[in-house]
Amino acid sequence: MSGASITDDDTVWRFSFRPLTTADLPLLHQWVARPHWTEWWGEAPSLAEVEADYGPWIADPAKVQPHIALLDGQPFAYIQSYVAKDSGGGWWADETDPGVRGIDQSIADAAHLGRGLGTAMVKAFVAKLFSDPQVTHIQTDPDPRNARAIRCYEKAGFRPIGEVLTPDGTALLMICKRPEQP
Ligand SMILES: CC(C)(COP(=O)(O)OP(=O)(O)OC[C@H]1O[C@@H](n2cnc3c(N)ncnc32)[C@H](O)[C@@H]1OP(=O)(O)O)[C@@H](O)C(=O)NCCC(=O)NCCS
Repeated sequence: MSGASITDDDTVWRFSFRPLTTADLPLLHQWVARPHWTEWWGEAPSLAEVEADYGPWIADPAKVQPHIALLDGQPFAYIQSYVAKDSGGGWWADETDPGVRGIDQSIADAAHLGRGLGTAMVKAFVAKLFSDPQVTHIQTDPDPRNARAIRCYEKAGFRPIGEVLTPDGTALLMICKRPEQP
């Protein structure tokens, strides 16, 4: 598990991240059915579909690393990283850099949206990923209509590159470069 304190004015939020386990899948199944998830992730899957989708990544996180984000120790969000190169399935076929990571995330509770917590969480997760010296840059790919997510990622240090066609449809590719070394 890794943690990071993100300060926003006088508020300090403590985020940590732990790998998703099979014991989390019933909880994740509840989360993915919530309207603020289905709006952007599509129709709610069954528990069996959640197990089929996430189980292989839990068993072998070489390509996709699924996590539960904890806020002050409590499950707060789902967040995953992935190695962009050789993703397969039509994803990021042009990527040649093995150091590129991608991230995807959603906050569990609708009451937590739009309060700056997503920005703080993404900053903390990006810092965790960059602690690996092999990571060159981090990408994310929101739906171009998801203005809240795009604004959150901009505040977390991502800049828009342009629209790309993915197996899930058109996305806005956004990139966060590794911070300058001292
Ligand atoms: C995307 C997500 C992780 C962002 O986290 P968050 O905590 O809601 O985001 P933040 O509060 O840190 O930042 C949101 C920003 O967008 C702004 N915003 C909110 N709704 C907006 C809208 N409809 N249009 C434009 N900007 C909007 C907020 O005002 C804020 O910007 P500001 O601080 O400059 O005012 C979270 O909203 C989420 O989980 N959404 C549901 C699922 C989802 O969209 N997942 C992402 C898929 S790529």
